[in-house]
Amino acid sequence: MASYVVLARKWRPSQFSDIGGQGPVVRTLMNAIQSDRIHHAYLLTGSRGIGKTSIARIFAKTIRCPNVKWDGTWLRACDECSSCREIAAGNSVDVIEIDGASNNGVDAVREIRENAKFLPSSGTRKIYIIDEVHMLTTAAFNALLKTLEEPPAHVLFILATTEPQKIPGTILSRCQRFDLKRFTVAQVQTRLEEVALAEGIQIEAGAVALLSRAADGSMRDALSLFDQVIAFAGMKISAGAVRESIGLIESQSLLGILRGIFSRDAKSAIAIVNDVYRAGHDLKLLSKNLLEYLHAAILLKVGIDSAAAELPAEEALELREIAKLREIEEIELFFQAFQNGTEWISRSPQPKLVLEVLVVKCATADALVMLPPRGGNPKSGSQQGAEQTNASVQKPLTRSVSETPAHTASTSPVGNPPKPSIVPMVKDLSTGMTPPATVPKPTESAQTGLPKASLLFTGSSPMAMKKPNSLGHSSDETRAVHAVPAGPKTFEGFISHVRKYRPAMASALENGICDPFPSEPEIDFVVTFSPQNASVYHGLLTSSAAVSELQKFTLEYLGMIKRVVVEVKDTGMLSVAERRENDLSQREQNAKNAVTSHPLIAEARALFGGELGPIELIQPQDENETSRKGSHA
Ligand SMILES: Nc1ncnc2c1ncn2[C@@H]1O[C@H](COP(=O)(O)OP(=O)(O)OP(=O)(O)O)[C@@H](O)[C@H]1O
Ligand SMILES: [Mg+2]
Ligand SMILES: [Zn+2]
Repeated sequence: MASYVVLARKWRPSQFSDIGGQGPVVRTLMNAIQSDRIHHAYLLTGSRGIGKTSIARIFAKTIRCPNVKWDGTWLRACDECSSCREIAAGNSVDVIEIDGASNNGVDAVREIRENAKFLPSSGTRKIYIIDEVHMLTTAAFNALLKTLEEPPAHVLFILATTEPQKIPGTILSRCQRFDLKRFTVAQVQTRLEEVALAEGIQIEAGAVALLSRAADGSMRDALSLFDQVIAFAGMKISAGAVRESIGLIESQSLLGILRGIFSRDAKSAIAIVNDVYRAGHDLKLLSKNLLEYLHAAILLKVGIDSAAAELPAEEALELREIAKLREIEEIELFFQAFQNGTEWISRSPQPKLVLEVLVVKCATADALVMLPPRGGNPKSGSQQGAEQTNASVQKPLTRSVSETPAHTASTSPVGNPPKPSIVPMVKDLSTGMTPPATVPKPTESAQTGLPKASLLFTGSSPMAMKKPNSLGHSSDETRAVHAVPAGPKTFEGFISHVRKYRPAMASALENGICDPFPSEPEIDFVVTFSPQNASVYHGLLTSSAAVSELQKFTLEYLGMIKRVVVEVKDTGMLSVAERRENDLSQREQNAKNAVTSHPLIAEARALFGGELGPIELIQPQDENETSRKGSHA
C-alpha cells in the first residue's frame, strides 16, 4: 500500500515556476544565474513556511544543472541529469544541506571550512545550504565568518532563517539578502483551490477562506491544516468541518461578542464568551480573534474593502454594520485594550476573568471625558473643538477628578489661559495592562502647562460629560497645530504624541521600526514592519487617510511635513514594543530572582514549604502608576 505523502511535501516546489508569492526574489535569482553573476553568499529570510528552503534548493539545483533552459518566462533545471537527480534524492556531495538547529557548533562549521577547500566532484560549484542559520553559536558564527570573508571561488553559501535579527551584523553584511513575503489570504486561497482541484477534493468557498485565514501567511501551515481537515472530513469539506477539525471559533460568536460590546450590551457579550469557553476554546485565541475583527472593523470603518480586511464578504457586511454603532476613536480604544489584554490573558492564571472584565469595560466605556480647568469654564462650540484635544496625563481610574492637581496658567509655555482637556480613556480600558512606556510622563503635562487629568470609567457617570462625537472627534480636521515639548525628537516621543489622538495608530507604530527617525529635513519618515508584525499593523498605516494623518503628526511633532513610507521588511532591529517587552521580562526575571533569593523568603519557604505566589511588579511612582502581574515563581 502506498503511503500517504502529506500535502506540504507533495506540493513542494521543484522549479522556480512552482514558487508562489515571491516574484521579485525568484526573478533576481534567475537573473543572477543567467548573467552568471552569482554572489558568494545569500541569505533568505522570512516567516515560517513561505519557501526559504524550497528556494534555496531550487537555486542550488538550477545553478548546477548543465542542461538548464529558459522557456521565455522561467529558468528550468532539467531534473534528469545526475546532479539534478542527486539533489532531488538529497544525496548530492556538492550540494550540502546543513541544519543549523542540529549542527550548530563550531565543529560543524570547521568541517565545512575544511571540506569547502576541495573542488566539487562535478560541475563548477559546491553549494552549502545552512538552514535555520540563526541557531549557530557565536563561536560557530565566527568560524563561518572566516570562510565568508575569503571564500574559495567555487563555493556558494545559501543561508536561511526565520530570525535574521539573531544573526551577527558581520555575517549579514557579507550576504546578499532576500526578505521573502508572507502569503496574503487571497494567495493562499488560490493555491488551496488549485491543490483541491488537483487532488479531487470538493471544498466549499467558505471553508477555503477559513483555512487561508488560519494559515496566517504560511503556505506550509495552509497545506498542513488542509491535511488535517481531509483526515477529519474526507473528500467533501464544508466550512463547519474546518471549524470543528481545526478548532476555530465560530465567526458568529466573534461578531456576537463585538455586537454586544458595540451596542453596550455587556450581558449578551459575556453570555457568548461563556458559550465559547464551554465549547472548550482557548481564550487567548478568542481574544486574538476579537483583536483581528476589531482591526478589520477599523479598516472597514475608514472605507477599506472587505478583501483588504481579510474577511469573507458576508462577515464584512455584518461587521461594517456593527462598526456603525461606535465612533472610530472608540473602536481604536477597544483595539488597544484588547491588544494589551491579549498579552495579559496569556499570562493570567485566570484568563476568563480578565477577558470578561475587558469585555465589560469596553461595553460600558465612554471614550472621552472632559475636565474643566480649575477656576475656568469649559469652552463650547467650535472654539472648543480646536483646543480641547490638547493632551493631558492619563491616570489610573482609582483617582478621581476632584483629586486632580492643577497647574496655574503661568506654567503654560505660550501664556494661554488654562484649557479644558479631553482625555482619551485608553488607559482605563486596560488599567493595569498598559505597558509602562506607553504612558506619557508627568513632565509632559508640566511642559504643556495643562491640568493633569484623571479618568472615570463609566458609561453613565456624570463625569463622562459628552459623547466623543460632540467633542470634535474629527480632531484631524479641527485640531490646531500644537506646540510639542522641546528637546530631542525621538520615535518614542512621536508615538506618545500620536497616542494622544490616535491610540490604535500609536500601537501600530510601536510595533514598527523607524530608524533613523527623520529629525533632519532630507530624511523620509519610513516605518518598517517585520513580516511577522505586518499582518496586524501594516494595514492600519497604509490607507491614504492614515498616511495623511501621519504627515500631520510629523508636522506637529517635527515642524515639517514628511514623505511617509510604510514597508514590510526584516530589518533585524527590535520595535519599540519588542524592546519594552524584553525590558519588562528582564525586570520581571530580576525581580523574581531577587525575591527567590531573599533570605526572608528562603526561610519562610523552608518553614512552610510553600510555593511563591504571583509576584507583582510595581513601577516607580514617577514613571507611571500602573503595576503589572508577574508570573508564578
Ligand atoms: N513560495 C511557496 N510557493 C509554493 N509553496 C510553498 C511556498 N512556500 C512554502 N510552500 C509550501 O510549504 C512547504 C514548506 O516550504 P519551505 O520548507 O520552503 O518553507 P520555509 O520557508 O523553509 O519554512 P521554515 O521556515 O519552516 O523552514 C513546501 O513544501 C510547499 O508545500
Ligand atoms: Mg525551511
Ligand atoms: Zn539537470
